[in-house]
Amino acid sequence: MSFEKILVLDFGGQYNQLIARRVRDESVYAEIKSYETPLDEIKAAGYKGIIFTGGPNSVYDESSPHYTKDILDIGVPVLGICYGAQLMAWMGGGKVESCVKSEYGKIEIENTKRDSLLFKGVDEKSIVWMSHTDFISAPPEGFEITSHSADCPCASMENVGRKLYAVQFHPEVTHSQFGKQFLHNFLFEVCGCKGDWVMDDFIERTVESLREQIGDKKVVLGLSGGVDSSVAAGLLSRAVGRQLTCVFVDQGLMRKNEGDFVEETFTRLFDMNFVRVNCGAQFISKLKGITDPEQKRKTIGSEFYKVFWDEIRKQADGGFFAQGTIYPDRIESGKGDAATIKTHHNQVKMPEDITFDGVIEPLGDLFKDEVRRVGEKLGIPKELVWRQPFPGPGLGVRIIGEITEEKIKVLQEADAVFRDEIKKSGIEDQLSQFFAVLPDVQTVGVMGDHRTYDHLIAIRAVTTDDFMTADWAKIPYDILARISNRLTNEVDHVNRVVYDITSKPPGTVEWE
Ligand code: XMP
Repeated sequence: MSFEKILVLDFGGQYNQLIARRVRDESVYAEIKSYETPLDEIKAAGYKGIIFTGGPNSVYDESSPHYTKDILDIGVPVLGICYGAQLMAWMGGGKVESCVKSEYGKIEIENTKRDSLLFKGVDEKSIVWMSHTDFISAPPEGFEITSHSADCPCASMENVGRKLYAVQFHPEVTHSQFGKQFLHNFLFEVCGCKGDWVMDDFIERTVESLREQIGDKKVVLGLSGGVDSSVAAGLLSRAVGRQLTCVFVDQGLMRKNEGDFVEETFTRLFDMNFVRVNCGAQFISKLKGITDPEQKRKTIGSEFYKVFWDEIRKQADGGFFAQGTIYPDRIESGKGDAATIKTHHNQVKMPEDITFDGVIEPLGDLFKDEVRRVGEKLGIPKELVWRQPFPGPGLGVRIIGEITEEKIKVLQEADAVFRDEIKKSGIEDQLSQFFAVLPDVQTVGVMGDHRTYDHLIAIRAVTTDDFMTADWAKIPYDILARISNRLTNEVDHVNRVVYDITSKPPGTVEWE
Protein backbone atom coordinates (compact mmCIF):
# COMPACT_ATOMS: atom_id res chain seq x y z
CA MET A 1 0.00 0.00 0.00
CA SER A 2 1.64 3.18 -1.01
CA PHE A 3 0.39 6.51 0.16
CA GLU A 4 2.05 9.64 1.50
CA LYS A 5 3.20 9.37 5.07
CA ILE A 6 4.22 11.89 7.68
CA LEU A 7 6.21 10.83 10.72
CA VAL A 8 5.30 12.37 14.06
CA LEU A 9 8.48 11.78 16.04
CA ASP A 10 7.38 11.66 19.64
CA PHE A 11 9.47 13.38 22.30
CA GLY A 12 6.89 12.89 25.05
CA GLY A 13 4.53 15.77 24.32
CA GLN A 14 0.96 15.62 25.54
CA TYR A 15 -0.35 16.58 22.11
CA ASN A 16 1.37 13.89 20.02
CA GLN A 17 -1.87 12.17 19.05
CA LEU A 18 -3.51 15.48 18.34
CA ILE A 19 -0.74 16.39 15.90
CA ALA A 20 -1.24 13.12 14.03
CA ARG A 21 -5.01 13.62 13.96
CA ARG A 22 -4.68 17.16 12.62
CA VAL A 23 -2.36 15.95 9.86
CA ARG A 24 -4.87 13.26 8.94
CA ASP A 25 -7.63 15.89 8.93
CA GLU A 26 -5.65 17.32 5.99
CA SER A 27 -5.98 13.93 4.25
CA VAL A 28 -2.36 12.99 4.85
CA TYR A 29 -1.54 9.83 6.77
CA ALA A 30 0.53 10.40 9.91
CA GLU A 31 2.06 7.85 12.22
CA ILE A 32 3.57 8.35 15.64
CA LYS A 33 6.91 6.80 16.49
CA SER A 34 9.19 7.04 19.45
CA TYR A 35 12.31 9.22 19.36
CA GLU A 36 14.11 5.91 19.92
CA THR A 37 13.30 4.78 16.37
CA PRO A 38 16.58 4.23 14.46
CA LEU A 39 17.38 6.66 11.65
CA ASP A 40 17.75 3.85 9.11
CA GLU A 41 14.18 2.79 9.77
CA ILE A 42 13.00 6.36 9.29
CA LYS A 43 14.96 6.72 6.06
CA ALA A 44 13.61 3.44 4.72
CA ALA A 45 9.98 4.39 5.40
CA GLY A 46 10.03 7.11 2.74
CA TYR A 47 8.28 9.83 4.72
CA LYS A 48 7.20 13.02 2.96
CA GLY A 49 7.87 14.99 6.11
CA ILE A 50 8.74 14.68 9.78
CA ILE A 51 7.27 16.54 12.75
CA PHE A 52 9.16 16.71 16.04
CA THR A 53 6.60 16.90 18.85
CA GLY A 54 6.72 18.95 22.00
CA GLY A 55 7.84 17.46 25.27
CA PRO A 56 8.24 18.41 28.92
CA ASN A 57 12.06 18.44 29.01
CA SER A 58 14.87 20.90 28.40
CA VAL A 59 17.06 20.13 25.41
CA TYR A 60 20.21 21.13 27.28
CA ASP A 61 19.68 18.40 29.92
CA GLU A 62 21.66 15.36 28.94
CA SER A 63 18.95 12.97 30.06
CA SER A 64 16.33 14.60 27.82
CA PRO A 65 15.19 12.79 24.68
CA HIS A 66 17.45 13.71 21.78
CA TYR A 67 17.97 12.53 18.22
CA THR A 68 20.96 12.38 15.94
CA LYS A 69 21.30 15.63 14.01
CA ASP A 70 21.78 13.60 10.84
CA ILE A 71 18.00 13.45 10.60
CA LEU A 72 18.07 17.08 9.50
CA ASP A 73 20.12 16.13 6.44
CA ILE A 74 18.27 13.18 4.94
CA GLY A 75 16.44 15.48 2.56
CA VAL A 76 13.06 15.10 4.27
CA PRO A 77 11.40 18.36 5.44
CA VAL A 78 11.12 18.72 9.22
CA LEU A 79 8.78 20.82 11.36
CA GLY A 80 9.74 21.18 15.00
CA ILE A 81 6.99 22.08 17.45
CA CYS A 82 7.75 23.58 20.90
CA TYR A 83 10.35 21.23 22.42
CA GLY A 84 10.81 19.94 18.86
CA ALA A 85 11.62 23.49 17.72
CA GLN A 86 14.16 23.94 20.50
CA LEU A 87 15.64 20.56 19.68
CA MET A 88 16.08 21.57 16.05
CA ALA A 89 17.82 24.77 17.15
CA TRP A 90 20.04 22.91 19.59
CA MET A 91 20.91 20.17 17.06
CA GLY A 92 21.93 22.79 14.54
CA GLY A 93 24.23 24.60 16.97
CA GLY A 94 21.81 27.37 18.01
CA LYS A 95 21.18 28.44 21.60
CA VAL A 96 18.32 27.42 23.88
CA GLU A 97 17.92 28.98 27.30
CA SER A 98 15.45 29.21 30.10
CA CYS A 99 12.95 32.07 29.59
CA VAL A 100 13.11 35.12 31.80
CA LYS A 101 9.34 35.12 31.48
CA SER A 102 7.74 31.86 30.39
CA GLU A 103 4.77 32.07 28.07
CA TYR A 104 1.56 30.17 28.63
CA GLY A 105 -1.75 30.53 26.85
CA LYS A 106 -2.89 32.69 23.97
CA ILE A 107 -0.06 34.94 22.80
CA GLU A 108 0.13 37.32 19.87
CA ILE A 109 2.95 36.78 17.39
CA GLU A 110 4.08 39.00 14.55
CA ASN A 111 5.25 37.48 11.30
CA THR A 112 8.35 39.31 10.11
CA LYS A 113 8.97 37.35 6.92
CA ARG A 114 5.82 37.67 4.87
CA ASP A 115 6.95 35.33 2.09
CA SER A 116 7.53 32.40 4.45
CA LEU A 117 5.77 29.33 3.08
CA LEU A 118 4.68 28.40 6.58
CA PHE A 119 2.87 31.74 6.95
CA LYS A 120 1.04 31.60 3.60
CA GLY A 121 -2.51 32.84 4.25
CA VAL A 122 -1.70 33.75 7.86
CA ASP A 123 -2.28 37.32 9.12
CA GLU A 124 0.75 39.43 9.94
CA LYS A 125 -0.34 39.42 13.59
CA SER A 126 -2.12 36.38 14.94
CA ILE A 127 -2.88 34.51 18.15
CA VAL A 128 -1.09 31.25 18.92
CA TRP A 129 -1.05 28.84 21.86
CA MET A 130 2.23 28.91 23.76
CA SER A 131 3.36 26.72 26.64
CA HIS A 132 7.11 26.92 27.28
CA THR A 133 9.73 27.79 29.84
CA ASP A 134 12.74 27.51 27.50
CA PHE A 135 13.22 29.52 24.34
CA ILE A 136 15.47 29.74 21.30
CA SER A 137 17.76 32.64 22.13
CA ALA A 138 19.88 32.25 18.99
CA PRO A 139 18.82 30.26 15.90
CA PRO A 140 21.43 28.05 14.25
CA GLU A 141 23.46 29.31 11.35
CA GLY A 142 21.49 29.39 8.14
CA PHE A 143 18.16 29.85 9.93
CA GLU A 144 16.04 32.97 9.77
CA ILE A 145 13.57 34.09 12.42
CA THR A 146 10.10 34.39 10.88
CA SER A 147 8.03 35.60 13.83
CA HIS A 148 8.29 36.81 17.42
CA SER A 149 6.05 37.68 20.34
CA ALA A 150 6.50 40.37 22.99
CA ASP A 151 8.50 38.02 25.22
CA CYS A 152 9.83 35.47 22.75
CA PRO A 153 12.31 36.73 20.15
CA CYS A 154 12.05 33.54 18.07
CA ALA A 155 8.47 32.27 17.87
CA SER A 156 9.34 30.55 14.59
CA MET A 157 12.37 30.06 12.35
CA GLU A 158 13.24 28.38 9.09
CA ASN A 159 15.99 27.26 6.80
CA VAL A 160 14.31 27.25 3.43
CA GLY A 161 17.12 25.54 1.52
CA ARG A 162 17.17 22.57 3.91
CA LYS A 163 13.37 22.60 4.32
CA LEU A 164 13.65 22.89 8.09
CA TYR A 165 10.91 24.76 9.96
CA ALA A 166 10.28 25.31 13.64
CA VAL A 167 7.50 26.89 15.68
CA GLN A 168 7.68 27.60 19.39
CA PHE A 169 3.86 27.55 19.56
CA HIS A 170 1.37 24.71 19.14
CA PRO A 171 -0.36 24.81 15.73
CA GLU A 172 -2.22 21.58 16.57
CA VAL A 173 -4.46 23.10 19.25
CA THR A 174 -7.57 24.98 18.25
CA HIS A 175 -6.57 28.03 20.33
CA SER A 176 -3.97 28.82 17.66
CA GLN A 177 -5.93 31.04 15.29
CA PHE A 178 -4.18 29.82 12.12
CA GLY A 179 -3.05 26.47 13.54
CA LYS A 180 -4.68 24.47 10.77
CA GLN A 181 -3.17 26.76 8.15
CA PHE A 182 0.39 26.31 9.50
CA LEU A 183 0.06 22.53 9.34
CA HIS A 184 -1.57 22.70 5.93
CA ASN A 185 1.28 24.87 4.66
CA PHE A 186 3.91 22.53 6.01
CA LEU A 187 2.25 19.50 4.43
CA PHE A 188 1.30 20.95 1.06
CA GLU A 189 3.67 23.88 0.46
CA VAL A 190 6.81 22.48 2.07
CA CYS A 191 6.49 18.69 1.86
CA GLY A 192 4.57 18.72 -1.43
CA CYS A 193 1.86 16.35 -0.22
CA LYS A 194 -1.22 15.85 -2.37
CA GLY A 195 -3.58 14.51 0.29
CA ASP A 196 -4.25 10.90 -0.58
CA TRP A 197 -5.43 9.64 2.82
CA VAL A 198 -9.16 9.39 2.19
CA MET A 199 -11.51 6.93 3.80
CA ASP A 200 -12.92 5.58 0.52
CA ASP A 201 -9.42 4.52 -0.47
CA PHE A 202 -8.80 3.16 3.00
CA ILE A 203 -11.80 0.86 2.70
CA GLU A 204 -10.75 -0.36 -0.72
CA ARG A 205 -7.13 -0.87 0.28
CA THR A 206 -8.03 -2.61 3.52
CA VAL A 207 -10.58 -4.91 1.94
CA GLU A 208 -8.04 -5.89 -0.68
CA SER A 209 -5.28 -6.60 1.81
CA LEU A 210 -7.65 -8.48 4.14
CA ARG A 211 -8.63 -10.73 1.23
CA GLU A 212 -5.02 -11.38 0.46
CA GLN A 213 -4.13 -12.11 4.08
CA ILE A 214 -7.13 -14.29 4.88
CA GLY A 215 -7.30 -16.26 1.64
CA ASP A 216 -9.90 -18.99 2.06
CA LYS A 217 -9.50 -19.28 5.82
CA LYS A 218 -12.03 -18.38 8.47
CA VAL A 219 -12.12 -15.31 10.72
CA VAL A 220 -13.74 -15.00 14.14
CA LEU A 221 -14.53 -11.58 15.60
CA GLY A 222 -15.88 -10.70 19.04
CA LEU A 223 -18.64 -8.18 18.48
CA SER A 224 -19.64 -6.01 21.44
CA GLY A 225 -22.05 -3.69 19.66
CA GLY A 226 -19.62 -0.82 20.25
CA VAL A 227 -18.32 1.37 17.42
CA ASP A 228 -14.92 -0.25 16.93
CA SER A 229 -15.89 -3.90 16.75
CA SER A 230 -18.93 -3.00 14.62
CA VAL A 231 -16.83 -1.20 12.02
CA ALA A 232 -14.23 -3.99 12.07
CA ALA A 233 -17.06 -6.45 11.41
CA GLY A 234 -18.31 -4.32 8.51
CA LEU A 235 -14.88 -4.26 6.88
CA LEU A 236 -14.26 -7.97 7.35
CA SER A 237 -17.67 -8.84 6.04
CA ARG A 238 -17.03 -6.77 2.93
CA ALA A 239 -13.70 -8.53 2.48
CA VAL A 240 -14.57 -12.16 3.09
CA GLY A 241 -18.35 -12.41 3.63
CA ARG A 242 -19.36 -15.72 5.13
CA GLN A 243 -15.83 -16.71 6.03
CA LEU A 244 -16.44 -14.31 8.93
CA THR A 245 -18.18 -15.37 12.12
CA CYS A 246 -19.10 -12.69 14.65
CA VAL A 247 -19.60 -13.78 18.22
CA PHE A 248 -21.92 -11.54 20.21
CA VAL A 249 -22.32 -12.28 23.91
CA ASP A 250 -25.58 -10.88 25.30
CA GLN A 251 -25.16 -10.99 29.04
CA GLY A 252 -28.63 -9.54 29.65
CA LEU A 253 -27.23 -6.25 30.92
CA MET A 254 -27.63 -4.24 27.75
CA ARG A 255 -30.11 -1.45 27.18
CA LYS A 256 -33.69 -2.20 26.21
CA ASN A 257 -33.83 -4.20 22.94
CA GLU A 258 -30.15 -3.52 22.28
CA GLY A 259 -29.18 -7.16 21.76
CA ASP A 260 -31.94 -7.55 19.16
CA PHE A 261 -30.92 -4.29 17.49
CA VAL A 262 -27.29 -5.41 17.14
CA GLU A 263 -28.31 -8.81 15.80
CA GLU A 264 -30.87 -7.39 13.41
CA THR A 265 -28.49 -4.72 12.12
CA PHE A 266 -25.60 -7.03 11.40
CA THR A 267 -27.53 -9.88 9.92
CA ARG A 268 -29.50 -7.49 7.68
CA LEU A 269 -26.60 -5.30 6.58
CA PHE A 270 -23.79 -7.74 6.19
CA ASP A 271 -23.04 -11.11 4.83
CA MET A 272 -21.55 -13.07 7.74
CA ASN A 273 -22.28 -15.78 10.28
CA PHE A 274 -23.70 -14.25 13.39
CA VAL A 275 -23.56 -16.18 16.65
CA ARG A 276 -25.46 -14.69 19.56
CA VAL A 277 -24.87 -16.21 22.97
CA ASN A 278 -27.70 -15.37 25.34
CA CYS A 279 -26.57 -15.88 28.88
CA GLY A 280 -28.61 -13.39 30.92
CA ALA A 281 -29.98 -16.01 33.31
CA GLN A 282 -26.50 -17.41 33.97
CA PHE A 283 -25.21 -13.91 34.80
CA ILE A 284 -28.04 -13.17 37.20
CA SER A 285 -27.45 -16.38 39.09
CA LYS A 286 -23.71 -15.64 39.32
CA LEU A 287 -24.46 -12.14 40.59
CA LYS A 288 -26.92 -13.26 43.24
CA GLY A 289 -26.21 -11.69 46.62
CA ILE A 290 -23.33 -9.55 45.35
CA THR A 291 -23.61 -5.88 46.31
CA ASP A 292 -20.00 -4.65 46.37
CA PRO A 293 -19.35 -2.64 43.17
CA GLU A 294 -15.87 -4.04 42.54
CA GLN A 295 -17.00 -7.57 43.21
CA LYS A 296 -19.86 -7.07 40.76
CA ARG A 297 -17.53 -5.71 38.07
CA LYS A 298 -15.12 -8.61 38.58
CA THR A 299 -17.87 -11.20 38.44
CA ILE A 300 -19.40 -9.70 35.29
CA GLY A 301 -15.95 -9.41 33.66
CA SER A 302 -14.78 -12.92 34.44
CA GLU A 303 -18.12 -14.48 33.54
CA PHE A 304 -18.17 -12.57 30.28
CA TYR A 305 -14.76 -13.79 29.22
CA LYS A 306 -15.55 -17.33 30.26
CA VAL A 307 -18.61 -17.40 28.02
CA PHE A 308 -16.83 -15.49 25.26
CA TRP A 309 -13.77 -17.73 25.12
CA ASP A 310 -15.89 -20.88 25.37
CA GLU A 311 -17.70 -19.76 22.24
CA ILE A 312 -14.50 -18.68 20.49
CA ARG A 313 -12.96 -22.05 21.34
CA LYS A 314 -15.89 -23.70 19.59
CA GLN A 315 -15.48 -21.47 16.56
CA ALA A 316 -11.68 -21.63 16.39
CA ASP A 317 -10.82 -23.76 13.45
CA GLY A 318 -7.42 -22.48 12.47
CA GLY A 319 -7.97 -19.23 10.63
CA PHE A 320 -7.76 -15.80 12.20
CA PHE A 321 -8.99 -14.01 15.29
CA ALA A 322 -9.99 -10.41 14.65
CA GLN A 323 -10.46 -7.54 17.06
CA GLY A 324 -11.48 -3.90 16.90
CA THR A 325 -8.23 -2.43 18.22
CA ILE A 326 -7.76 1.18 17.10
CA TYR A 327 -4.61 3.29 16.83
CA PRO A 328 -4.73 4.98 20.26
CA ASP A 329 -4.96 1.51 21.88
CA ARG A 330 -1.57 0.70 20.38
CA ILE A 331 0.42 3.76 21.29
CA GLU A 332 1.60 5.00 24.60
CA SER A 333 2.51 8.60 25.33
CA GLY A 334 6.22 9.33 25.17
CA LYS A 335 6.94 6.06 23.44
CA GLY A 336 4.77 6.23 20.38
CA ASP A 337 5.70 2.67 19.87
CA ALA A 338 3.33 -0.06 18.82
CA ALA A 339 5.47 -2.57 20.70
CA THR A 340 4.41 -1.21 24.08
CA ILE A 341 0.80 -2.19 24.23
CA LYS A 342 -1.53 -0.90 26.90
CA THR A 343 -3.96 -3.30 28.44
CA HIS A 344 -7.23 -2.26 26.93
CA HIS A 345 -10.61 -3.82 26.56
CA ASN A 346 -10.16 -3.81 22.77
CA GLN A 347 -7.11 -6.01 23.05
CA VAL A 348 -7.86 -9.01 25.17
CA LYS A 349 -5.57 -11.79 26.24
CA MET A 350 -6.48 -15.09 24.68
CA PRO A 351 -6.36 -18.32 26.74
CA GLU A 352 -3.35 -20.38 25.77
CA ASP A 353 -5.31 -23.40 24.61
CA ILE A 354 -7.01 -21.44 21.84
CA THR A 355 -4.92 -21.16 18.74
CA PHE A 356 -5.33 -19.17 15.59
CA ASP A 357 -3.05 -18.63 12.64
CA GLY A 358 -2.91 -14.96 13.50
CA VAL A 359 -4.64 -11.89 14.83
CA ILE A 360 -6.18 -9.30 12.53
CA GLU A 361 -6.76 -5.70 13.57
CA PRO A 362 -8.25 -3.95 10.53
CA LEU A 363 -8.64 -0.62 12.34
CA GLY A 364 -5.24 -0.67 14.02
CA ASP A 365 -4.09 2.47 12.19
CA LEU A 366 -7.20 4.60 12.68
CA PHE A 367 -8.27 7.21 15.18
CA LYS A 368 -11.82 7.10 16.53
CA ASP A 369 -13.15 9.83 14.23
CA GLU A 370 -11.72 7.96 11.24
CA VAL A 371 -13.32 4.72 12.45
CA ARG A 372 -16.66 6.54 12.52
CA ARG A 373 -16.14 7.90 9.01
CA VAL A 374 -15.37 4.38 7.75
CA GLY A 375 -18.45 3.09 9.58
CA GLU A 376 -20.67 5.64 7.89
CA LYS A 377 -19.22 4.81 4.48
CA LEU A 378 -19.88 1.13 5.11
CA GLY A 379 -23.54 1.97 5.75
CA ILE A 380 -23.58 1.13 9.46
CA PRO A 381 -26.52 2.97 11.09
CA LYS A 382 -25.89 6.31 12.81
CA GLU A 383 -27.08 4.89 16.16
CA LEU A 384 -24.15 2.46 16.12
CA VAL A 385 -21.52 4.68 14.54
CA TRP A 386 -22.21 7.60 16.86
CA ARG A 387 -23.07 5.44 19.82
CA GLN A 388 -22.25 7.01 23.17
CA PRO A 389 -19.86 5.03 25.36
CA PHE A 390 -21.43 2.12 27.17
CA PRO A 391 -19.52 0.44 29.98
CA GLY A 392 -18.37 -3.15 29.54
CA PRO A 393 -20.34 -4.33 32.61
CA GLY A 394 -23.44 -2.69 31.09
CA LEU A 395 -26.38 -1.87 33.31
CA GLY A 396 -24.63 -3.85 36.04
CA VAL A 397 -22.82 -0.67 37.15
CA ARG A 398 -26.06 1.34 36.99
CA ILE A 399 -28.01 -0.84 39.37
CA ILE A 400 -26.81 -0.19 42.87
CA GLY A 401 -26.88 -3.17 45.21
CA GLU A 402 -27.86 -6.64 44.14
CA ILE A 403 -28.79 -7.14 40.50
CA THR A 404 -32.11 -8.87 39.90
CA GLU A 405 -34.18 -9.50 36.81
CA GLU A 406 -36.90 -7.17 38.07
CA LYS A 407 -34.45 -4.33 38.62
CA ILE A 408 -32.90 -4.79 35.17
CA LYS A 409 -36.37 -4.52 33.66
CA VAL A 410 -37.27 -1.33 35.57
CA LEU A 411 -33.95 0.27 34.61
CA GLN A 412 -34.18 -0.76 30.95
CA GLU A 413 -37.67 0.76 30.69
CA ALA A 414 -36.68 3.96 32.50
CA ASP A 415 -33.53 4.35 30.42
CA ALA A 416 -35.48 3.86 27.19
CA VAL A 417 -38.02 6.54 28.17
CA PHE A 418 -35.28 8.95 29.22
CA ARG A 419 -33.36 8.47 25.98
CA ASP A 420 -36.50 8.82 23.91
CA GLU A 421 -37.37 12.13 25.55
CA ILE A 422 -33.84 13.49 25.12
CA LYS A 423 -34.00 12.59 21.44
CA LYS A 424 -37.43 14.22 21.01
CA SER A 425 -36.24 17.36 22.78
CA GLY A 426 -33.49 17.78 20.18
CA ILE A 427 -30.65 18.09 22.69
CA GLU A 428 -29.06 14.69 22.11
CA ASP A 429 -26.12 16.12 20.16
CA GLN A 430 -25.27 18.49 23.01
CA LEU A 431 -24.75 15.65 25.49
CA SER A 432 -21.72 13.38 25.63
CA GLN A 433 -23.44 10.64 27.57
CA PHE A 434 -26.81 10.23 29.28
CA PHE A 435 -28.50 7.31 31.01
CA ALA A 436 -30.73 6.27 33.88
CA VAL A 437 -29.54 4.73 37.15
CA LEU A 438 -31.44 2.58 39.62
CA PRO A 439 -30.10 3.51 43.05
CA ASP A 440 -31.93 0.66 44.79
CA VAL A 441 -33.82 3.09 46.99
CA GLN A 442 -37.55 2.92 47.54
CA THR A 443 -39.46 5.97 48.64
CA VAL A 444 -43.03 6.77 49.64
CA GLY A 445 -45.29 8.35 47.05
CA VAL A 446 -48.93 8.80 46.28
CA MET A 447 -50.79 7.68 43.18
CA GLY A 448 -54.47 8.48 43.04
CA ASP A 449 -55.61 7.90 46.62
CA HIS A 450 -53.06 5.22 47.24
CA ARG A 451 -49.80 5.27 49.06
CA THR A 452 -46.93 3.81 47.02
CA TYR A 453 -43.53 2.58 48.11
CA ASP A 454 -41.53 2.18 44.95
CA HIS A 455 -38.29 2.77 43.05
CA LEU A 456 -36.35 5.97 42.73
CA ILE A 457 -34.76 6.63 39.32
CA ALA A 458 -31.76 8.89 38.96
CA ILE A 459 -30.96 10.43 35.62
CA ARG A 460 -27.44 11.34 34.60
CA ALA A 461 -26.32 13.49 31.66
CA VAL A 462 -22.82 14.84 31.16
CA THR A 463 -20.81 16.93 28.74
CA THR A 464 -17.12 16.23 28.31
CA ASP A 465 -14.30 16.16 25.77
CA ASP A 466 -12.41 13.17 27.07
CA PHE A 467 -14.39 11.62 29.97
CA MET A 468 -11.43 12.27 32.30
CA THR A 469 -13.37 15.24 33.62
CA ALA A 470 -17.03 15.97 32.96
CA ASP A 471 -19.70 18.54 33.70
CA TRP A 472 -23.28 17.69 34.53
CA ALA A 473 -25.42 18.90 31.66
CA LYS A 474 -27.66 21.91 32.23
CA ILE A 475 -30.79 20.35 30.75
CA PRO A 476 -33.59 22.97 30.64
CA TYR A 477 -36.25 22.64 33.38
CA ASP A 478 -39.11 22.09 30.96
CA ILE A 479 -37.33 19.08 29.45
CA LEU A 480 -36.52 17.72 32.90
CA ALA A 481 -40.19 18.16 33.83
CA ARG A 482 -41.30 16.13 30.81
CA ILE A 483 -38.75 13.41 31.57
CA SER A 484 -39.92 13.18 35.18
CA ASN A 485 -43.59 13.03 34.15
CA ARG A 486 -43.01 10.35 31.61
CA LEU A 487 -40.84 8.22 33.90
CA THR A 488 -43.39 8.19 36.72
CA ASN A 489 -46.33 7.69 34.34
CA GLU A 490 -44.89 5.20 31.89
CA VAL A 491 -42.54 3.04 33.92
CA ASP A 492 -44.06 0.62 36.38
CA HIS A 493 -42.62 0.76 39.88
CA VAL A 494 -41.10 4.22 39.51
CA ASN A 495 -42.59 6.91 41.75
CA ARG A 496 -39.75 9.42 42.08
CA VAL A 497 -37.05 10.94 39.85
CA VAL A 498 -33.87 12.81 40.78
CA TYR A 499 -31.33 14.51 38.52
CA ASP A 500 -27.66 13.91 39.28
CA ILE A 501 -25.95 17.33 39.42
CA THR A 502 -22.45 16.10 40.24
CA SER A 503 -19.49 16.89 38.01
CA LYS A 504 -16.43 14.66 37.59
CA PRO A 505 -14.49 15.06 39.78
CA PRO A 506 -15.62 14.54 42.50
CA GLY A 507 -18.19 12.12 41.05
CA THR A 508 -17.48 9.63 38.29
CA VAL A 509 -19.74 9.42 35.27
CA GLU A 510 -21.06 6.00 36.23
CA TRP A 511 -22.41 5.42 39.72
CA GLU A 512 -20.36 2.30 40.34
P1 XMP B 1 -16.30 6.93 34.88
O1 XMP B 1 -17.48 6.32 35.56
O2 XMP B 1 -15.01 6.24 35.20
O3 XMP B 1 -16.56 6.69 33.33
O4 XMP B 1 -16.23 8.42 35.08
C1 XMP B 1 -15.85 7.32 32.30
C2 XMP B 1 -16.32 6.72 30.98
O5 XMP B 1 -15.95 5.34 30.90
C3 XMP B 1 -17.11 4.51 30.76
N1 XMP B 1 -16.88 3.32 31.59
C4 XMP B 1 -16.50 2.12 31.10
N2 XMP B 1 -16.25 1.70 29.84
N3 XMP B 1 -15.76 -0.47 30.65
C5 XMP B 1 -15.89 0.41 29.62
O6 XMP B 1 -15.68 0.01 28.48
C6 XMP B 1 -15.97 -0.13 31.93
O7 XMP B 1 -15.85 -0.93 32.85
C7 XMP B 1 -16.37 1.24 32.16
N4 XMP B 1 -16.66 1.94 33.29
C8 XMP B 1 -16.95 3.21 32.91
C9 XMP B 1 -18.26 5.34 31.26
O8 XMP B 1 -19.50 4.93 30.70
C10 XMP B 1 -17.84 6.73 30.83
O9 XMP B 1 -18.13 6.95 29.47
